[in-house]
Amino acid sequence: MDRFVIAGGRPLCGAVKVQGAKNSALPSIAACILTGEPVRLRNIPKLTDIDVMRSILHSLGAECEWEGDDLVISAERINDCVIPENLMREMRSSIILLGPLLARAGRVVASYPGGYAIGSRPIDLHLKGLRALGVQIEDEGRGLLRAHAETLRGADIHLSMPSVGATENIMMAATLATGETIIRNAAMEPEIVDLQNFLNAMGAGISGAGTDCLSIRGVTRLHGAEYAIIPDRIVAGTYLLGAVMTRGHVTVFPAPPDQLEPLLAKLREMGALVVLDGSGVTAVGRGRPKALDSVKTSPFPGFPTDLQAPLLAALCLADGTSVLTETVFESRFKHVDELNRLGASIKVAGRSAVIRGVDRLTGALVSASDLRAGAALTLAGLAAQGITVVEQVHHIGRGYASLVEDLRTLGAAIERI
Ligand code: UD1
Repeated sequence: MDRFVIAGGRPLCGAVKVQGAKNSALPSIAACILTGEPVRLRNIPKLTDIDVMRSILHSLGAECEWEGDDLVISAERINDCVIPENLMREMRSSIILLGPLLARAGRVVASYPGGYAIGSRPIDLHLKGLRALGVQIEDEGRGLLRAHAETLRGADIHLSMPSVGATENIMMAATLATGETIIRNAAMEPEIVDLQNFLNAMGAGISGAGTDCLSIRGVTRLHGAEYAIIPDRIVAGTYLLGAVMTRGHVTVFPAPPDQLEPLLAKLREMGALVVLDGSGVTAVGRGRPKALDSVKTSPFPGFPTDLQAPLLAALCLADGTSVLTETVFESRFKHVDELNRLGASIKVAGRSAVIRGVDRLTGALVSASDLRAGAALTLAGLAAQGITVVEQVHHIGRGYASLVEDLRTLGAAIERI
């Protein structure tokens, strides 16, 4: 198993280009099933989750090939509507194939999706939304779902919580439904806006993304398109937090500030200088970060749950005691014990972590339980005195295409062994 070896204590300084957003790339690739014409998606990050999605498309009969950083996808033929169980279990996002497959082929057989154990992560909102569009779903027990629909009909759907994946699934299915679909209490994440823009570039009739109410006017067909996805705000945010923790200065580009604002507000409260220019964002760490007395993760425009672990790592070194509450996923504090091994002082009570800032972390052997935990431990290792070894770093390749290279560009002493 690969591990990172980090000689900590050096400030991160410099500029890095931000990869395309994983959470835009995955639904966009799934959306290509909605048309038989070729699509070119630009700026797709080379991640293991993208490989899983490509394998699923191949198994359905579609082509999905790299040309540099572009993926060229042709779903002219869809020979099969069975999503292989091993691939479905590897990645929770595979559930977003249900909507496009039902809209294009009228049926799908899939198992319940996998993913990290960061909460129970049910799919009830996906299934409820698809049923409202006229999909018949049989849950065969043993985790197998069979779904089919003669035709999809527009519907008025209220989500009991603004699930990102359910909003995307319903949006994609509704593009080819008859009539209009309304999704209320929809997710408002920037990746939803990106998916709307991509689907509209393919000929869909969607409006409202970025608000909590989406309208999808069904069309009879979608066509090919060429589309560049947005930069990854979580990767950008990870590097900005790294600058603040190591008391360095990092510029990330391209990085739309409005998509990063929930983090930038916290960086300012921590005492960092945040500079915005047309295409990038710079964070400058100014001495020891200040503690944050109450941060809660919540759906956009709240503080993103995917940056909770990296923020928690940064708060370990803050002056004072911080309280960080996770409201989106119920068991997303697996990084806490590992951070404590580095000398942090964190206690978890229910959904909140209480972090008493220490003035130094010390290198140790730690293990990444998942993608964002891995990023957090890497940041902590960069800020710690001495050598930190992070094990199980294969998780990190699910979301960061070039973490080691990027950190080295910023002056870090990190090696993958
Ligand atoms: C997406 C992101 C993930 C991010 C999450 C929250 C992708 C590929 N992944 O995941 O990185 O952490 O949004 O911003 O875009 N829920 C239900 N029933 C459902 C669906 C969700 O109860 O049918 C609950 C979940 O258990 C969770 C909450 O809703 O507690 C949010 O989940 P959701 O927004 O659906 O996350 P994902 O789309 O899985």
